[in-house]
Amino acid sequence: MCDRAVTATFAQMWAELEPIGRHAQTGGYRRFAWTAEDLTLREWFAAQADARGLDLVVDRAGNQWAWWGNPDETPGAVLGSHLDSVPDGGAFDGPLGVVSAFAALDAFRATGRAPSRPIGIVNFADEEGARFGIACAGSRLITGALSAATALALRDVEGTTLAETIGVDAASVGPDPETLRRVGVFVELHIEQGRWLIDSEHAVGVGNAIWPHGRWRVELPGEANHAGTTALADRVDPTLALAGLIQQARSAAERHDALATCGKLRVSPNAVNAVPSHVTAWIDARASNEAAVRAVIDQVRGFAEAAGGSVLEESWTPTTMLTPSVVDQLATVLGAPVLGTGAGHDAGILATAGVPAAMLFVRNPTGVSHSPAEHAEPADCAAGVKALTAALGELV
Ligand code: HGY
Ligand code: MN
Ligand code: MN
Repeated sequence: MCDRAVTATFAQMWAELEPIGRHAQTGGYRRFAWTAEDLTLREWFAAQADARGLDLVVDRAGNQWAWWGNPDETPGAVLGSHLDSVPDGGAFDGPLGVVSAFAALDAFRATGRAPSRPIGIVNFADEEGARFGIACAGSRLITGALSAATALALRDVEGTTLAETIGVDAASVGPDPETLRRVGVFVELHIEQGRWLIDSEHAVGVGNAIWPHGRWRVELPGEANHAGTTALADRVDPTLALAGLIQQARSAAERHDALATCGKLRVSPNAVNAVPSHVTAWIDARASNEAAVRAVIDQVRGFAEAAGGSVLEESWTPTTMLTPSVVDQLATVLGAPVLGTGAGHDAGILATAGVPAAMLFVRNPTGVSHSPAEHAEPADCAAGVKALTAALGELV
């Protein structure tokens, strides 16, 4: 399949995805797990699989797998990523990996070569955890890193549980060793979410490691009262504690060479003219080593508890090494640089569960991600498909 044909197929798939879940004002994407937008994306994935004669299988966490060949006979080589987004996320985080996977399969098939093993393409469910709070929920469920009971009880901002949302009982959700056995190796292509490749001559890098990171929910109690009649000295205002908490998180991150973000808040009752009764804040903390992350959270916890609050760990990802043999093979074949990332990915969850996995990162000219401004140049996206096709040719 000549480059032009691959580019045309890629552009066609990209154009089909572009409007799904895009917010008219912000231009960002709101593609949250198990919403109408997510259903449309899943239907798109199924149609792409059907158009290529691939066998579509949905596993015990709602992850979609499209197979060429029978992976129950021989574990296959799998490409893919996720289609969901953070609130007002960019177009590339996730979808670039899924669209590139279909384009790489098309390009491989055009060579006429018969693969030595089955080839699969996966759409992982709920990678961002934007609605129910736990990232990589689909891959954590099938690997057992997240229990069905915990997952099904997760609630969205309306208080709806995951179980109510997907309408299944606990028995049909959970670890899926049969699905994992089908995966001989997984390569996830993803837009780079930092600035590592900007100054590189390479449009594509090989991902070998994921920083330790986690999410903590901080509860800060207050006393509801009237904004116009309550003296400052009489107030128990949780937003004062919140202001201090955010400063503490930031100063601890600076001190420990870490990253700390408070991007999600819930102020109750959220009224302009009432001193809040309660504030819930979420802290995302990451660093190149686990001790630094723990030191940041210890400082946050000390401050919150002194303010009468509490801190609960909602998710944790330890330092994750992707599979060295696969990383080395791809780096050698592609002549590409090897780089780590502070962003979490399903490939990391699979590698931790013992499934051979590596990543390919496509240059992001600004490094901006989790933003409508996220972008990758068409030429770099084409280089990504070419690299993924070469990687596939090595693995099957
Ligand atoms: O949060 C992350 O690192 C990823 O985008 N889920
Ligand atoms: Mn993301
Ligand atoms: Mn992603």
